[in-house]
Amino acid sequence: MNCALRLVEIFGSQADLARAFQLDRAVVSHWVRVGYVPARWAGEVERLTSGRIGAVEVLDEASAKKPVRVKSRPDDAPFGFQQGSQAMSHFAPSKRIQSFHPPQRTLMGPGPTEIHPRVLTTMSQPAIGYLDPVFVEMMEELKSLLRYVFQTRNPLTFPVSGPGSVGMEFCFVNLVAPGDKVIVCQNGVFGGRMLENVLRCGGIPVVVEDKWGEPVDPQKVEDALKKNKDARIVAFVHAETSTGCQSDAKLLTQIAHQRDALVIVDAVTSLGGSPVKVEEWEIDAIYSASQKCLSCTPGLSPVSISERLVERVRKRKDKIHSWFMDMNLLLGYWGATTRTYHHTAPTNSLFALHEALLLIREEGLENSWARHQRHHVALKAGLEAMGLEFVVAEKHQLPQMNAVRCPEGVDEAAVRKTLLNEFGLEIGAGLGPLAGKIWRFGLMGYSCRPDNVMLCLSALGSVLVDMGLPLHVGDAEAAAHGAYAQMHARDAQRKKRAA
Ligand SMILES: Cc1ncc(COP(=O)(O)O)c(C=O)c1O
Repeated sequence: MNCALRLVEIFGSQADLARAFQLDRAVVSHWVRVGYVPARWAGEVERLTSGRIGAVEVLDEASAKKPVRVKSRPDDAPFGFQQGSQAMSHFAPSKRIQSFHPPQRTLMGPGPTEIHPRVLTTMSQPAIGYLDPVFVEMMEELKSLLRYVFQTRNPLTFPVSGPGSVGMEFCFVNLVAPGDKVIVCQNGVFGGRMLENVLRCGGIPVVVEDKWGEPVDPQKVEDALKKNKDARIVAFVHAETSTGCQSDAKLLTQIAHQRDALVIVDAVTSLGGSPVKVEEWEIDAIYSASQKCLSCTPGLSPVSISERLVERVRKRKDKIHSWFMDMNLLLGYWGATTRTYHHTAPTNSLFALHEALLLIREEGLENSWARHQRHHVALKAGLEAMGLEFVVAEKHQLPQMNAVRCPEGVDEAAVRKTLLNEFGLEIGAGLGPLAGKIWRFGLMGYSCRPDNVMLCLSALGSVLVDMGLPLHVGDAEAAAHGAYAQMHARDAQRKKRAA
């Protein structure tokens, strides 16, 4: 049965289907007549059927029925080019290439995450210019939604075009001038990247090192600042994705400020999933990424810079080493008053980020934090019921990134491969010294759902039992259900007391 008929069956009638999609009945009856649903409705179909009909099914069917063919000029070769000219064909791939349709996956790795169908649909809207007044209006909303998730009034809060690494470089190239001393905290992969940035900016790094899996030690930072009175900046990762460890961003910022140093904070994995309070914690510069708890497509890096710092960068006498990331130039496009061309903004990705942030606004930021915590507690109960041990001590565990040690004698990579091939489930591997020793289970953004928690526990349990581990099938799921039940009971009591 084609997707159009399946939709009629799911919604009961063509009229009900038209109502659900807010369409004219004639449109729906046309779908039924031609026997497919046009590709642009793929995301909505998946959303409104709660995944019973996948977007990919709609896309596959639509492209089979009505392939989009872009033909250049007709055969009379008006510009002197012969169709299929030998010279051009030399460079054509020998293999016949079809349109690319990725499979449906459950994404529970370190990011990217699954994307809400509303975000995917928004992203596939027609392109408009980056100076179009409608787009400019959307940019202002986007900035205000970012201020909400960052909890700040900083006017310079905007998405840098590029992944989280670009947001990181944006902060370092603008704030670190050659010769500046920077305390760099390193307790995982991403502190190491900060160190690289300091070196490349000509700064003088002072490394404060903590074990992988432990938070940044505030005492060590204080000691380093005491020893290096000329240090201008302290840089640290709030949520270390490589280990699932959370550091105390508020305390580290206070310590830096007491010694007149500024902070650069990596909130790539924390933003949207656990509290980040830029104004209350007085963070000077912070960056994140679109593909983690914001659950958008990769390729945008929200940043927020305090007004004090913007002034400081404005007054820098030396030329900032990167043209693309020079804050003073970017302000011409993203600033409060002007919209002059800097680079071609990735418009459709920005539509998507707007929608992703709108979803967080609708849910409520605190509810989003609470959701990440709730599903983390359930997943943790299940993983521990399987005898798996967390890398990080409980009070520093990130809800959105759960790293556990792979049991002795189990082929870590083979488990991940089987999960992907047989269950369509992606989880993360260990990095650096933890490579081959741990698994990382992400619970970020739209991926942070009870169905994913249960699928993950069942799939992992089944693979481990197949590999000969002495586990009792169903124990992990029961533990997770038990954790949910306890949390529901506590919530009900709290509500009762408040009433
Ligand atoms: C904590 C942290 N910082 C920085 C990055 C780099 O972000 P991206 O991969 O988007 O460049 C990541 C990516 O996983 C990260 O987890």
